Amino acid sequence: MNAPQPISSSRNLGILISGRGSNFVAIADNISAGRLHARISIVISNRSDAPGIEAARQRGLNVVVIPSKGRTREDHDREVVSALKEARADVVVLAGYMRLLSPWFIQQFPHRILNIHPSLLPSFPGLDAQKQAFDYGVKVSGCTVHFVDEHLDHGAIVVQRTVPVLPDDDDHSLADRILQQEHQAYSEAIRIVLDGNYEIIGRRVVAKTH
Ligand code: GRF
Repeated sequence: MNAPQPISSSRNLGILISGRGSNFVAIADNISAGRLHARISIVISNRSDAPGIEAARQRGLNVVVIPSKGRTREDHDREVVSALKEARADVVVLAGYMRLLSPWFIQQFPHRILNIHPSLLPSFPGLDAQKQAFDYGVKVSGCTVHFVDEHLDHGAIVVQRTVPVLPDDDDHSLADRILQQEHQAYSEAIRIVLDGNYEIIGRRVVAKTH
């Protein structure tokens, strides 16, 4: 059994993106609307051309581009971790961050790094998960928010949401409907982790009952 360490009252999120950033925007909107009690203390992109950067700037957030191209993982991760620590991030939110984290990075934030994946893990890890699921012919897919561990798309699951595959779907329409669920599931998972109202038993993230 593993009870989480309490989170500081500042409830700071450090968000890592590489692209579109729609999950980041959904989280930011939920915070602005008072549906998620948190603060985004930094948005970091490893790509200077990520469209999500502009969305973050428009919101007046602290945005930092730390290019990963041509650098070793360890070197890049060191700079990202130091920016996250400087911004006093309590929870690290991978929102379409297309890089594996080094074990050292993960150890800096034990049970404090979340990722979202567009399938019902452990089915269809890796790239193009929605297409993998569609091509396989599943009748139900969905999304998973999980703690990040040293294996790809693998850590303990915090929230999952299901999405039916409809007869006239293609992989794009399925991906669109999964994305709508992602935008709700991520804030739900962040709330659970910030509130610390859970225990990790084996691989299971179990809500504490009082
Ligand atoms: C999402 O489908 C997410 O599940 C996956 O990458 C995509 C990122 O989309 N990890 P966005 O950049 O948040 O719009």
